[in-house]
Amino acid sequence: IDFTHARFCAAYGTPDQIPEAKRPEVSVVGRSNVGKSSLINRLVGRKALAKVSSKPGKTATVNFYDVDGIYLVDLPGYGFAKVSAAEKRRWADLIGGYFDQERSFNLVVSLVDIRHEPQKLDHEMVGFLKEGGFPFVVVLTKADKLSRAQQQRQRALIARELDIDPETVLVTSAEKGQGIDELKDAISAACV
Ligand code: GTP
Ligand code: MG
Repeated sequence: IDFTHARFCAAYGTPDQIPEAKRPEVSVVGRSNVGKSSLINRLVGRKALAKVSSKPGKTATVNFYDVDGIYLVDLPGYGFAKVSAAEKRRWADLIGGYFDQERSFNLVVSLVDIRHEPQKLDHEMVGFLKEGGFPFVVVLTKADKLSRAQQQRQRALIARELDIDPETVLVTSAEKGQGIDELKDAISAACV
């Protein structure tokens, strides 16, 4: 996959707007502000293909990017407290509706902030992916905020808490580029 061959396709606010797709699809999920859009930008080597914000709740739609013939899908973050109940429901319906669809789901990239223990909604997300039989990889974000020793400790702890093999957990930094080649390899392997 040539990750630099990327363009924005479309943004959808409700699941029924999302068209069927025959292409391989890689979806990026995680809490609000965890770094989904930043990671996508780093993958494609662009500063602002996906909109990034220091304020949580930036991505409020399901955004499709065409990356060398594969769909990379940026989903709204979950767990953002400061939006209305109606808006929370719309996001939950959007994310839930998307995963209910008949789609390729080659890989779900499930992001967790490396600095924190997985939160309730992270547990629910990973539980949902396991139960649904979705191919997924847990990717820890913002590794540049911790020392290498701390990174390894957090990786072991988060893997144990989520009950997944620590060897499969990727440690990344959208800021510094750490772990990005490994993630590209995982995406490429899932999309053959
Ligand atoms: P929503 O769209 O609101 O769900 O957020 P998101 O998950 O798309 O997060 P986004 O990429 O917008 O990043 C949120 C904040 O975290 C921004 O201030 C980013 O600059 C910062 N950030 C993202 N990735 C990294 C990283 O690897 N290292 C550091 N230090 N900051 C990061
Ligand atoms: Mg975003």
